[in-house]
Amino acid sequence: MQKWYTTVLALGLAGQVLAQNPLVVKVNQPKAEIQPTMWGLFFEDINMGADGGLYAELIKNRSFEFESPMMGWKEQKNPKASVLVLNRQDQPENPRFIRVKTEGGKYGLTNEGFRGMGVKQGVGYDFSVLSRNVEGNLTLKLELVKPDGQVLGTASLPLNSTDWKKHSVRFTSNGTEPKAKLNVWFEGTGTADLDMLSLFPKDTWKNRPGGLRADLVQLLADMKPGFLRFPGGCIVEGMDLSNRYQWKKTVGPLEVREVAINRWNKEFKHRLTPDYFQTFGLGFFEYFQLAEDLGAEPLPILNCGMACQYNTAEVVPVEELDPYVQDALDLIEFANGSTDTKWGKLRADMGHPAPFNLKLLGVGNEQWGPQYIDRYVVFEKAIKSKYPEVRLISSAGPNPDGEVFGFLNGKLRSLKADIIDEHYYRKPEWFLENATRYDDYDRNGPKIFAGEYASQSKDVASPENRNTWLCALSEAAFMTGLERNADVVHMASYAPLFAHADGWQWTPDLIWMNNLQSYGTPNYYVQKLYSTNKGTKVLPILSNNQLITGKEQLYASATWDEPTKEVILKLVNASNQSQTHTVNLEGVKKLENKGKRFTLKSSEPGAVNSFDQPKQVSPTEEELAVKGTKLNLTLAPQSFTVVRVKVVK
Ligand code: AHR
Repeated sequence: MQKWYTTVLALGLAGQVLAQNPLVVKVNQPKAEIQPTMWGLFFEDINMGADGGLYAELIKNRSFEFESPMMGWKEQKNPKASVLVLNRQDQPENPRFIRVKTEGGKYGLTNEGFRGMGVKQGVGYDFSVLSRNVEGNLTLKLELVKPDGQVLGTASLPLNSTDWKKHSVRFTSNGTEPKAKLNVWFEGTGTADLDMLSLFPKDTWKNRPGGLRADLVQLLADMKPGFLRFPGGCIVEGMDLSNRYQWKKTVGPLEVREVAINRWNKEFKHRLTPDYFQTFGLGFFEYFQLAEDLGAEPLPILNCGMACQYNTAEVVPVEELDPYVQDALDLIEFANGSTDTKWGKLRADMGHPAPFNLKLLGVGNEQWGPQYIDRYVVFEKAIKSKYPEVRLISSAGPNPDGEVFGFLNGKLRSLKADIIDEHYYRKPEWFLENATRYDDYDRNGPKIFAGEYASQSKDVASPENRNTWLCALSEAAFMTGLERNADVVHMASYAPLFAHADGWQWTPDLIWMNNLQSYGTPNYYVQKLYSTNKGTKVLPILSNNQLITGKEQLYASATWDEPTKEVILKLVNASNQSQTHTVNLEGVKKLENKGKRFTLKSSEPGAVNSFDQPKQVSPTEEELAVKGTKLNLTLAPQSFTVVRVKVVK
């Protein structure tokens, strides 16, 4: 049979139905346990994933801390008014604020938002500002406007304090607009200082003030993820050490969370994003809270004294690692410590006295070389001696094979590392050919976290990559191998998670958004089908007594789900012909006469989802008639099928 992924475009679809050998599922021979963490999420603030994306703040550069203090703001000039950027000494984390002086007349500042502001008819918007009067009396007149100036909502906010104070007001938008702007007009005569100008929709996830975009969190919640890895990704490492992610600067009051340049701002010359900064409104507390909301294990990844090796590759001398190690120990205290401890108390003060039950912690992101091992062992010793129950994630570098991988893999195995993080950004062919990758892994060695993977339609980091059906199908085939080897593979996550259509740097990505809409890619539906049909134990599924790993371009795995007493099958037909299979469920006396079948398919390998056709490639659900303990399944060409059948005692 020809490989469709190289020939289907030339040949078209054959559509021939083949008779196949029966597939056998040994229901009475359950194997490894599937970890609750098996299928999870990788989050990084890349592609405007956090600021401009998940974090629902609509004002860009709210504290004037971007490199250029007035970036995102436009002065609506008036000769009798002025704005001055001041830098105070007493608040080094957020030194800048603006002083507006006006002697009357129309004067204002307009914020352009993140590629505009997405606003919806009938939704309330909360504006707030930290301000103090210097002299006279000023009132802010707020105006949410369409690009053509049409007013969508207004409010007045008198500034009435001589000390720094938060002033806020809510107003409702009378229209829906993806590219709105906010005018802040200054009425009256006088001088006032302003900082932290903020605008949030009321309809955030769980209606939390200053919270997250509900549509995006809903897409994550629908996946029922087993873990949430955060905050990255290379963002953990930074372009240099000064730019590394420092969790302590992301907790506590918003106005003292130090803004940092986002490392993806200038990473790719072909996708420069000069206005990409991190405000950390989505900081470590919010990540833990999100993980809790999703029912996912939190998995923070910390800098291990190494900057991104694709950038400066700076390292901290081993003998000077203490502050980095201390950050890791303090993070465990922040997550799990009693409210009597310094960091546990901060968690409580932020609104979460109960612990977050952190069990997993990553030491470094995608590091490599002996310099990584030298630093990893220092972290491991310190963390394990104080918190032996915390399981550590270590890095196998950026590639799934080769010298760099071989070195790290060997060293980490000899160190008896808990969990090794493997990354694969590869072509669809690689995913199809590597469905057997873990079949021969050492069953007694470290566990595997497939921490970042995505099938690349063109090439790694190419802006031409697309989230095609072919890529998604190849991932589905590969994932049968992850599932079959759940005794070794304990966790897996596609990467990256989010991309803003007007602000991305890296493609492909699991979920695409603009200021108002979002959709899951075909890859999203593959991930979701796996994570919502996980099961609790691996079952052998064989053809001719052999694993089903690509012969006739068929891939399969099976699991048992103890709570529902169901057998769950995952079948990938990667060929360009439909295949009909009998599936014998061995060791089962009786099945319920109705099962469920989910099918994800497309006849176009290049099919993608889009804002206009968000569900072009998405699963259909059907009832499956079951007779006896045999199933007859016809698998469409290039399809991924999930079947659930219930065993009756
Ligand atoms: O997912 C995008 C990037 O790919 C991650 O930040 C990094 O870990 C990997 O190289």
